[in-house]
Amino acid sequence: MRGKKFYEKTPAERLALLIEEGRIDENDAGKLSGENGLDRETANFMIENVIGTFSLPIGVARGFIINGEKIDVPMVIEEPSVVAAASNAAKLTALNGGFSAEADAPIMIGQLQLINVPYPANAVSAIRRHRKQLLDQIRSIDPVLASVGGGPVDLKIKFFKNSPIGSFLVVYLYLNVADAMGANAVNSALEKIAPELESLTGGEARLRILSNLAVRRLARARCVLKAESLRTAEYDGESVAARILDAAALAEVDPYRAVTHNKGILNGIDAVLLATGNDWRAVEAGAHGFAAKHGKIFPLSRWEKDAGRNLIGTIELPMAVGTVGGATRVHPAAQAALKMMNVDSAKKLAGILAAVGLAQNLAALRALGTVGIQKGHLSLHARQVAIAAGAVGNQIELVAEKMRADRVISTDRAKEILSAL
Ligand code: MEV
Repeated sequence: MRGKKFYEKTPAERLALLIEEGRIDENDAGKLSGENGLDRETANFMIENVIGTFSLPIGVARGFIINGEKIDVPMVIEEPSVVAAASNAAKLTALNGGFSAEADAPIMIGQLQLINVPYPANAVSAIRRHRKQLLDQIRSIDPVLASVGGGPVDLKIKFFKNSPIGSFLVVYLYLNVADAMGANAVNSALEKIAPELESLTGGEARLRILSNLAVRRLARARCVLKAESLRTAEYDGESVAARILDAAALAEVDPYRAVTHNKGILNGIDAVLLATGNDWRAVEAGAHGFAAKHGKIFPLSRWEKDAGRNLIGTIELPMAVGTVGGATRVHPAAQAALKMMNVDSAKKLAGILAAVGLAQNLAALRALGTVGIQKGHLSLHARQVAIAAGAVGNQIELVAEKMRADRVISTDRAKEILSAL
């Protein structure tokens, strides 16, 4: 008899297989299973007014090939079908050589606003004259960052003539934050140089804060799929490729679709951000801002066909993620999740995230362009509906199975089935 597929195994069997394959060790398994996950005492140091911890499922999308490396991707998400979709797209792409992925140097941008500047033109030249001195000052406050190759890269200045409060200057700091997400490093540097900038310009410093529009820290991924590999039970590969292009075209011209297209991409990205303890709001904000950079919302991914019969997918978006500091260090499962993916740098993580986003998008467009997403989604959703209706233990699968067979998936139907059991 063939062995059970990963999705057919129990959670304990899945963990055992990951240990057997060397993806995680026993210790990490305890952290990921929740047994030795985030405890209340640790949580109490993370935020304020803690009363406990809040759990979500963590699943694994298996079989990603990214830059030639096989990677199993941990995903934390409440929505059924996201992990299954990512796994399917991972396998499909793996058959075609996988994803190539890369990321820019980890340069974050911070803004320092200077108001009531008496002579803006003089202020701009004074800042320019002291540029090196200001950068040296920033470098000296964070020797650890400098020792790992980070540090200030540039300062730029912009004069805003008209705003609701009149004119002001903004100084932009470009800081290489190495393997950190970078918010603390950028904010601290800006606060540090604010007095110096006030005395150079005669103005008053107001905002000193990181920008989440991390356009100097983009991640990219690409996949090339042979049309025939895309075939489904109902459609040949050529028609699936054409249908994916139809779906992608709508996102190019219509923001109503572009936003949903991008939401599907972020389904995958957010789930990995959560699993690795990263600030998913920062990445979301950056992604949406980047998608609207031309004044209209555009899709973060593009699909096209080459002269042969290949479908080519590409994605590019800001990816402000860290592998050191913050929750990535404190949350036990986040550390284990990074280890599972063999992540040794924020750049590598950024590339993986871009590939997962593209995979999620591929799975969504393939389903939407063919059978629609409700078939797979509702069938997986049935178990959640059964639980919501009060099913426990064995009842959950029984109720879900009956609803699937009847093709009616609703809480009322689940309750009826439950009372009949
Ligand atoms: C649902 O969470 C995500 C999708 O709507 C994405 C898409 O439409 O591309 C399926």
